[in-house]
Amino acid sequence: MAEKKFLNNLPVQQISGKIINLRVLEKKDLEKTLMWLSDPSINMYLNSNFRDYDMERELKWFEFIQSSNSDVVFAIEEKESGIHIGNCSLDKIDWRRKICEMGIVIGDKNNWNKGYGTDTVKTITEFAFQKLGLQSVQLNVFKYNHRAIRVYRKCGFKLKSIKRKDHFHDGKYWDTLLMELESSL
Ligand SMILES: CC(C)(COP(=O)(O)OP(=O)(O)OC[C@H]1O[C@@H](n2cnc3c(N)ncnc32)[C@H](O)[C@@H]1OP(=O)(O)O)[C@@H](O)C(=O)NCCC(=O)NCCS
Repeated sequence: MAEKKFLNNLPVQQISGKIINLRVLEKKDLEKTLMWLSDPSINMYLNSNFRDYDMERELKWFEFIQSSNSDVVFAIEEKESGIHIGNCSLDKIDWRRKICEMGIVIGDKNNWNKGYGTDTVKTITEFAFQKLGLQSVQLNVFKYNHRAIRVYRKCGFKLKSIKRKDHFHDGKYWDTLLMELESSL
């Protein structure tokens, strides 16, 4: 039985999008998650912290997330099949300033470009604004991640600032874009 997750005393339940469902990440999901995070063709797009995770570090991360009042990670499930295809998160929720960061990975590359990412971002940001009462969701994305930038723009994210040449990848330095979606509520 999965442990119940609370954020600011609010129980976090399954969230339904158009083609995906989001449910709170469970211990049984960690093996698949580690496999995705260890894949260089996926982790080249992610925060470098995740690149050298092993199961021990991942377990520590999971325990931290479980007990955190400012972080939640969801498993993304394809609605039709129930298959776990990726993860997404709201991190570093600042309840006073009503802002947080967001992360997403669709772990199986065969599932890229099928609309799952867009539906997930719309669903998790709606949850952040409508259920958690936040005002702003922010994220960092490397400039070479054209697919992700396209998804964020489609979902209404705007460029907030640029960290010039702060990320080294494939022999050169790249900009990191800070993007933001503000609540319309
Ligand atoms: C980024 C990611 C979450 C997007 O999810 P997805 O399910 O593939 O995205 P969607 O299918 O909803 O949308 C992809 C969009 O990008 C477009 N796209 C694909 N490749 C592109 C490229 N090279 N340049 C510009 N746009 C591109 C697609 O055409 C589509 O836009 P459209 O619907 O207007 O045609 C997913 O690809 C992923 O997990 N990537 C690896 C991890 C990652 O980058 N995480 C984000 C870190 S900030």
